[in-house]
Amino acid sequence: MAVSSPPKLDAPKLRADFPIFEQKIHGKPLAYLDSAVSTHKPRQVLEKLRVFYETSYANVHRGVYTLSERSTAEYEGARQKVAQFVNAASPSEIVFVRGATEGLNLVAYAWGLVKLEPGDLVVVTELEHHSNFVPWQYMAKRTGATLRMISLNENGELDLSELDAIAGEGKVKVVANNLVSNALGTINPIEKLSAWAHDQGAIMVVDGAQAAPHKSVDVQALGCDFFAFSAHKMCGPTSVGALWGRLELLDAMEPFNLGGHMIRKVTFEETTYGEVPAKFEAGTQPIAEAVGFGAAVDYVTDVGLDSIEQHEHELAAYALERLAEIPGIKLYGPPADRRAGIVSFNLTDIHPHDVAQVLDMEGVAIRAGHHCCQPLMQKLGVAATNRASFYLYTVPDEIDRLVSGLHKAQKIFS
Ligand SMILES: Cc1ncc(COP(=O)(O)O)c(C=O)c1O
Repeated sequence: MAVSSPPKLDAPKLRADFPIFEQKIHGKPLAYLDSAVSTHKPRQVLEKLRVFYETSYANVHRGVYTLSERSTAEYEGARQKVAQFVNAASPSEIVFVRGATEGLNLVAYAWGLVKLEPGDLVVVTELEHHSNFVPWQYMAKRTGATLRMISLNENGELDLSELDAIAGEGKVKVVANNLVSNALGTINPIEKLSAWAHDQGAIMVVDGAQAAPHKSVDVQALGCDFFAFSAHKMCGPTSVGALWGRLELLDAMEPFNLGGHMIRKVTFEETTYGEVPAKFEAGTQPIAEAVGFGAAVDYVTDVGLDSIEQHEHELAAYALERLAEIPGIKLYGPPADRRAGIVSFNLTDIHPHDVAQVLDMEGVAIRAGHHCCQPLMQKLGVAATNRASFYLYTVPDEIDRLVSGLHKAQKIFS
């Protein structure tokens, strides 16, 4: 059966939805190659926020008056959109959180701190963002469990041949891995890891921060137990994201934050908790931001996640080809067909911060640093890398400008 390609995305047309591109940086058009850290926002999302604040804003789940009911309907409507976006079995499985970081901390505290004990293994990888590394390292120290890393091969991909040995080292209770690496663009085999984790009796926690914005995600097909992601990396507002979790696990878990809204009944003697997801949403939530998150889901869904993924693959292939022309460049990560729209590299003897500054003068924005992946940098034997990352509004001309800027940096620092 022929596999049909998704409709080709029209990046120059989509770019017109983003007011940020109307300005110049140092007199040059903005080439924004830092979407892995955060994406820009289209008019459709900005407009939704404005209209919501102007016509429907009130606190949610509090009042019986019209505005509060309207606001609650918008907020819960956004939850439904997010649930559908990742194919959750029910909107109740979606907890609004501040972002991927808070979602992963929620699991680490409300599940890890309660369930882990000495002799248990928490298995992460050398490829994790600090958000999916530090909470597990901390929980392992707090509980006496052992933190174990799956290593990377020279392509920046996981060495799954280690799994049998790891299983023999202790009781695997948690496996935590990103679906897409923010530092190398590696796409990780979550289905395989989920199956292995469940064979060990462990839970599978997925950091989906770099995946959900860029490819179609089906949490049920991934076979995982938790999946965390952030709205700001997919055209939505800051300070909101989602944690998807299997209902039976969320139901059985302790609360994370305690206070208003998350309770069923409070007396001087004791407190009982509300149903999931209210149990995990203490205090006033990022209401307008969640509504904006819903609008961002609509936006990227209309563009088409398969088309976004295809577009980014093409850009990554083009970038790897063009960057390889530069003498003295070191490229990190897997080949183009096995990576998302993220390319990390270093130029011999030029610090990434110097490179990024020269590029900024050309209107080209890239990230230079450790990308919140210090253990990975240690593994690569560098303090930092340059990273260019792409999204639905990225055009090949921006990659050409990156390459010319890198030649310029080499001239300046030679
Ligand atoms: C792979 C990955 N995980 C987690 C995070 C944390 O996301 P946030 O800062 O939105 O909580 C990021 C952000 O860069 C990321 O790239």
